Amino acid sequence: MRTAFSVSKSVPAKVAAIVIPIAASGPIPSGVGLNRAQLAALGFEGKTSQTHTLTPAAGKTAVRVLVGIGDVRDLNTSVLRNVAASAARACARYESIATTLPGVIRGSAKASTQAVVEGIALALHRWVALKNDKSGLAKLTSVTLVSAEKTADVQAGMLMGIATSTAVCTARDFANTPPSHLTARQFADHAVAIANASGLEVTVYNRDQLIAMGCGGLVGVNAGSTEPPRMVKLVYTPTSAKGKVVLVGKGVMYDSGGISLKPSNESHAAMKMDMSGAAAVLSTMGALRAMKVKTQVTAYLMCTDNMPSGSALKLGDVLTMRNGKTVEIHNTDAEGRLILADGLSLGAESKPDAMIDIATLTGACLAALGKRMAGVLGNNVGVIDQLKASSTRTDELLWELPLFTDYRRMLDSNVADMRNIGGPLAGATTAALFLSEFVGSTPWAHLDIAGPMDADSDSGWLNRGATAYGTRLLIDFCANFTKPAKKK
Ligand code: BES
Ligand code: MN
Ligand code: ZN
Repeated sequence: MRTAFSVSKSVPAKVAAIVIPIAASGPIPSGVGLNRAQLAALGFEGKTSQTHTLTPAAGKTAVRVLVGIGDVRDLNTSVLRNVAASAARACARYESIATTLPGVIRGSAKASTQAVVEGIALALHRWVALKNDKSGLAKLTSVTLVSAEKTADVQAGMLMGIATSTAVCTARDFANTPPSHLTARQFADHAVAIANASGLEVTVYNRDQLIAMGCGGLVGVNAGSTEPPRMVKLVYTPTSAKGKVVLVGKGVMYDSGGISLKPSNESHAAMKMDMSGAAAVLSTMGALRAMKVKTQVTAYLMCTDNMPSGSALKLGDVLTMRNGKTVEIHNTDAEGRLILADGLSLGAESKPDAMIDIATLTGACLAALGKRMAGVLGNNVGVIDQLKASSTRTDELLWELPLFTDYRRMLDSNVADMRNIGGPLAGATTAALFLSEFVGSTPWAHLDIAGPMDADSDSGWLNRGATAYGTRLLIDFCANFTKPAKKK
C-alpha cells in the first residue's frame, strides 16, 4: 500500500482535492456553493458512489470532488467502503486529498474510518511489478481524514484500516504474481519475512520432513513437479489468549490439473491464483499483532504446484494422509483437498476451539454462487455464524451450502477409505465432505473462494485481478472470535 493516511481536525491548506460527501436529500454543505437544482443540472444527485468534480472555490486551490452517499438511512460501513473507493478512483490523479467521509455515519467513528481507509487503499491498489510502464499507478499518496470530534476513535480506526488493507494488498500481490515468479520455496521465504516482521513463530517444512510427518497429500500432489513443496506453520500468541484457532490455506502455486490436464483457456491462466487461500491466511497472520487480536492463531500454508510429468500422481494411485486415512485418486485436478487433508489433520491434532480452511477449491462453487460470494460449509453452527457476522462487517460475502452427509457415499472407493472426487453433481459439497474426514471432532468450517478469488473489472473496493478475498474476513473472525458451543 503506497497511500499515507493521517487524521486532522481541519482541512490542511495544501491538499490538491477535497472530497465532500453529499446525501441524496437534505442540505448541501455551504462550501459547495451550489444548490440541489444546480447540482442536478450538472448530473449530480448524490446517489450512492456518484462523483462530480468542481473547480476550486473562490480564492482556493483545491478542487472539490463531490461524492454521493445516497439515502443516509441506508448508510452502513459496507456502503461507505464503496463510496470511499469511488471517491479514490475519482481522485487518483491528485497527489493529496482531504475528506470528511469518516463522519457520515453517526456513532461509528472507528468502524467507519476503517472502512473509508480500506475503500481508498483497495481501490487504488495496482500490481505493476512486471510492467515497465508504471503510469497505471495512482498519483494519490496522501489522504487526510478530517474529523473535528472523536479523533482518538478516528485515529484507531485508521490504524486498523491500514493494517487490514496492507494485508489485502500483500495477498493480492502474491496471487497476481505469475507461477514462475512465485514458487512454493519463494512463497515460504516471504512467509518467514512476514513472520519476522510481525512477531510470529514460523517453521518451514521441506519435502523430506513432510514425508517423515506422513503428509502424503502434499507430497503426492507435488510428485509431478520439479519444484519441491513447502508447508509453512505460523503461530501468533498474544498475551492472555482468549481462544485457539487454526487456519489452513490452499497454496497451489499453479494448478495445471496434473495428468488430468486442464484445457488452455482463460480460467486455466487464472490458476496462478490457486494459492489465494494460502495468501489470505499468510496476510491475515501478518495483521494480527497490529489488530491487537486476543485469540491464539496457528496457520498452515500448504504449498506446491500441480504438474503433469513422468513422476506425476496417477489415477488409481492411493495416498495415505497425515491422519492415516487412504485416498484413491480418480482425478489429479482435485488436488486442493489432498493438500488440505494434511493441514487439517495437523490442525486437528492440537485440538483448537475452531479450525477454518480457505481454498480455491471447486468450479462447482463458482458455478453455484458466482464471483461475488464464497461458499461456506462446516460441522458447527457457532463457527459458521461467526464467519457470517464477519462477512457482513467486511462485505466479503458468504453463502452457506449444505454439508449433506448422505452424499458421502459418492466418495466411496473399492480399494481405499475414499476417493478424491464424487460424481458430477454437488461438487462443492462432496469436496467439503472429503475435507470433513480430516477434522475429527474439531469445530470446523471450509471457505470455498474459487468464485471471488479474482474480479473481472474495477468496482467498489474490488479491483480487476486477484481480490485477496477472505483476508479481511479472517482478520475480523480472529479479532472477534469466541469459543463455539461443543455441539452443533
Ligand atoms: N483450483 C481448482 C478449482 C477452481 C476452478 C478454482 C475455477 C478457481 C476457478 C481445483 O483444483 C479444481 O481443479 N477443481 C476441480 C475438481 C474436480 C476435478 C472434482 C473442478 O472444480 O473442476
Ligand atoms: Mn485442480
Ligand atoms: Zn486447484
